[in-house]
Amino acid sequence: MAQNKVEKHFDEVAHYLREEAYSHENTMNAVRLKITQSILRKYPFGNLLDIGCGGGHTTYSFLKDGWSAIGIDFSANTVKEANAFIKAKHGSDNLIQQASATDLSIFPDASLDVVLCLGVLYYIEDINSAYKEIFRVLKPGGIFICSHQNELFDMFTFNKYTLRFFRNHVFPLVEGEKEKREIELENLVKSLITHHDEPKKHDQGSGRDTVPTYPENPLTFPSKMKSYGFTVKSKPYYHGFHLMPPLAMKKETHLKVESEQKQYELRHDWRGLFMAAHFLFEMQKSG
Ligand SMILES: C[S@@+](CC[C@H](N)C(=O)[O-])C[C@H]1O[C@@H](n2cnc3c(N)ncnc32)[C@H](O)[C@@H]1O
Repeated sequence: MAQNKVEKHFDEVAHYLREEAYSHENTMNAVRLKITQSILRKYPFGNLLDIGCGGGHTTYSFLKDGWSAIGIDFSANTVKEANAFIKAKHGSDNLIQQASATDLSIFPDASLDVVLCLGVLYYIEDINSAYKEIFRVLKPGGIFICSHQNELFDMFTFNKYTLRFFRNHVFPLVEGEKEKREIELENLVKSLITHHDEPKKHDQGSGRDTVPTYPENPLTFPSKMKSYGFTVKSKPYYHGFHLMPPLAMKKETHLKVESEQKQYELRHDWRGLFMAAHFLFEMQKSG
């Protein structure tokens, strides 16, 4: 079967996911993991599924904390990396299987206490199937923790993603003959944004500029999740904080370090609504 573009991308960056994404305690992934671990401390240990587990760092951390953790990822190379990493660190074999979030048929109904999806959902085109599957495999009252790319951050980046935001959420509000009007509005907004065709390419570990992504709005996400049977349990946790737009941070590189250092303390700060690239919600399956 032909590999899809996202799967191919992650096959190529499998090693990076393990080596770089957790290279120090303030990387965005490391901070997201710390947030998730602090949430999970409230719950009794049980079985936990780490969907899109990447290089296995997260699954290993939950195992170490005391959870019966297993993982899946749809990239074959990533599964190999993750199993080797967990075997070396923990001694357990084959805790990671190759599967997609959109088809969890290897797991029975209502069989899991916790499902995690960290840094994964925005790569999934058929998100409807993923949410239905996660609901199915969780026990009633089970916990679902997921992070998402923050669509409102696009308004803070002054780049091609800002244009995307206008296209998706602003132009439809303006009257006029649809296609003609959209071209006019697009040119108008382009004339206001100096770097409307940037970024060309992100660092190799992020799929953001390499493959299509489907970000979410933290303001409307809770009601969307309610329609799938999940109730939000706490305030959104922001991470990937940018003290200045990414294009400006390229010129002032020390701001990257400062942004990373402040992520955890700013995790509930209202400015995260537009200054953080990602958000995370703790949810519970109703019933
Ligand atoms: C950015 S990495 C995040 C890895 C890990 N969860 C972490 O937080 O460090 C995204 C991972 O999701 C996986 N992925 C993307 N779409 C997926 C899908 N539909 N089903 C399963 N895994 C998927 C990719 O292969 C990749 O390993």
